[in-house]
Amino acid sequence: MSQTIKIGFFGCGNVGSGVWKLLTGFAREITHRTGLQFEVKRVLVHDLQKKREIDFPAGTLTDSVDDLLNDDEISIILEFLGGEEPAHAWDMAALQHGKTLVTANKVAFDLHWHELQKAAKENGVGLYYEAAVCGAIPIIHTIEDSLQANRISYLYGIVNGTTNYILSRMSKEGLDYEAALREAQELGLAEPDPSSDVEGLDAAYKLSILASLAFHGRVPFEYVYVEGITQVKAEDIRCGQEMGYTLKLLAIAKRDGLRVETRVHPTFIRNDHPMANVSGSFNAVFLKGHACGEMMFMGRGAGDMPTASAIVSDLVRAASTQKHCYPTFSNELYPAARLESNTDWQSAFYVRMLAEDQPGVLSKVAQTFADHGVSIAAMQQKGEKLNGRVTVVLITHKAGEKDMQQAVREIDPGTAAVESLLRVEKE
Ligand code: HSE
Repeated sequence: MSQTIKIGFFGCGNVGSGVWKLLTGFAREITHRTGLQFEVKRVLVHDLQKKREIDFPAGTLTDSVDDLLNDDEISIILEFLGGEEPAHAWDMAALQHGKTLVTANKVAFDLHWHELQKAAKENGVGLYYEAAVCGAIPIIHTIEDSLQANRISYLYGIVNGTTNYILSRMSKEGLDYEAALREAQELGLAEPDPSSDVEGLDAAYKLSILASLAFHGRVPFEYVYVEGITQVKAEDIRCGQEMGYTLKLLAIAKRDGLRVETRVHPTFIRNDHPMANVSGSFNAVFLKGHACGEMMFMGRGAGDMPTASAIVSDLVRAASTQKHCYPTFSNELYPAARLESNTDWQSAFYVRMLAEDQPGVLSKVAQTFADHGVSIAAMQQKGEKLNGRVTVVLITHKAGEKDMQQAVREIDPGTAAVESLLRVEKE
């Protein structure tokens, strides 16, 4: 005899439709494997009249959240609304009404994780969020559970498929940013308003969640330094490639004692680093634990079925468990012994400048860098002149972020003008 679990949906867009398709199309296998049957009893939507690809049974759709909250038969809610409000208010209400929450909404989850977790614990219900980060890649469960015997020292993520697609097209085809973005929009990979993706915010929410789990302490969203890809030039991608590097929008988290650095920005990585081959709209996470060593996870970070894969797996886990688990660290936004945000990180740098082609110019530039402890590791000068100046590209050894920024400000514009400054991860 199988057990029927009644569930509700908050929202039913692309991801919700994928979840419905997976729950119905894969129902026999789920029941065979778990002894559970899931019945989608109510689906909360904004517009009851909208034409939908799914033909829901009569009485399933509603535009009143109370129809789900006050239905005692519904024990689990799946949320795929996106955005902070009203999702956060409804998620809190669901937990307070004794319903387990499975969410794909990284924004509402990350900004309110501490209160959502507190409400879940107080009401003896579960809070599951695998789908909030990297779609189908099971990175949340992996860090929380499978790698719990590790002290994770760093983590690199390619956690936004839209920007990875754009940068891949710029790298492989030499497209400029606008043309690659247009192409991504035509393919439906980028939103009509792509700002959250291309400005790095989507990646920053995901990094805040991953870093909190990896470092066992809350790393709030505002600890994440964010720079997007809108200023990336095809010329820099090309120059970097010539020097052995590939440009990615990298989400970087590193921990040293209680100091953490969390940053999302365009970053050059070695062409032979496994993350350099993560192309198109794929996502990947590369991390290092003191016991497991280096590991990499790659897969689809978005899309209806990949996201549904994570949601339905969370649903099955939530419905089968005897005891819901929560992260073990003190999950307060600002706990007493909190992790500190280190904004003066060490990094190598890529600098492209237009310099006078005269004796002594490079030694002056090198001296300005040296005055700030920045040492040059590699340099290329291009033959062709532009307005009487030549292009010079430098890669530095590791230096302090603030020292580097100051050195760039002090370069004499009469000798050289810095056109681009990008960070390089050499590990
Ligand atoms: N917009 C995201 C991406 C997927 O491009 O990866 C949802 O988090």
